[in-house]
Amino acid sequence: MKGIILSGGHGTRLLPLTKMTSKQLLPVYNRPMVYYPLNTLLKAGIKEILFVIAPDHAGNYLNLLGSGKEFGARFTYEIQDEPRGLAEAFIIAESFLDNGPVTMILGDNIFEDDFSEAIKGFKSGGRVFAKEVSDPKRFGVVEFDENKKAISIEEKPQNPKSNFAIPGLYIYDKRVVDFAKEVSPSQRGEIEITEIHKRYLALGELDVQIVRGEWVDAGTFDSLLSANQLAKERLASKMII
Ligand code: G1P
Repeated sequence: MKGIILSGGHGTRLLPLTKMTSKQLLPVYNRPMVYYPLNTLLKAGIKEILFVIAPDHAGNYLNLLGSGKEFGARFTYEIQDEPRGLAEAFIIAESFLDNGPVTMILGDNIFEDDFSEAIKGFKSGGRVFAKEVSDPKRFGVVEFDENKKAISIEEKPQNPKSNFAIPGLYIYDKRVVDFAKEVSPSQRGEIEITEIHKRYLALGELDVQIVRGEWVDAGTFDSLLSANQLAKERLASKMII
């Protein structure tokens, strides 16, 4: 299993902080933000990791993370020139993935749970996660039937069919690269990851697991504050990096 950490975008919602560096390198308590998703992958035994980064401040990633040797891993870097959507990362990663499965995590997503079992036990199809939130409109939203089976998925719906958001951690088999190539850009001009979830859902091959612990998407000032709090109170002592 290979890993992708997607650290793209201009981080405009965090200006002026993101004039200095990339959003995903900003401090979250006592570590750079990207250490938390990196920790999630390393803990699950993933050692070959591709960072897909925006061109602005790209050098800062090399300075901070280097070859990966210090982390017992091997790091590779690719540039995403424009924020053309999360699913574009799979296309950028095609040669890195070399027809194998992938776990992708977003560089601003911070999780308390350990995903080792979910990642190591993955066989084929797709596996995504769901977490009940108070503001589902900000996210991809999954609706379940009475047997807890996923029945619909929508990206940032105006009228969410449930309170279950899909966090930024996705496990897919090798078909994800071809599926990503088939997605047309949305109204906001992005190749939406939600279209990939929907493709696997339509095939009956999407497994959706509930996230038990805390999860923060640290992309806004308020969620960044929550991320700092979470890191200090619950995560700092459990990190392996
Ligand atoms: C993205 C995805 C969305 C997902 C979210 C998780 O949204 O498009 O489906 O729920 O990440 O953080 P973005 O943060 O790019 O607006």
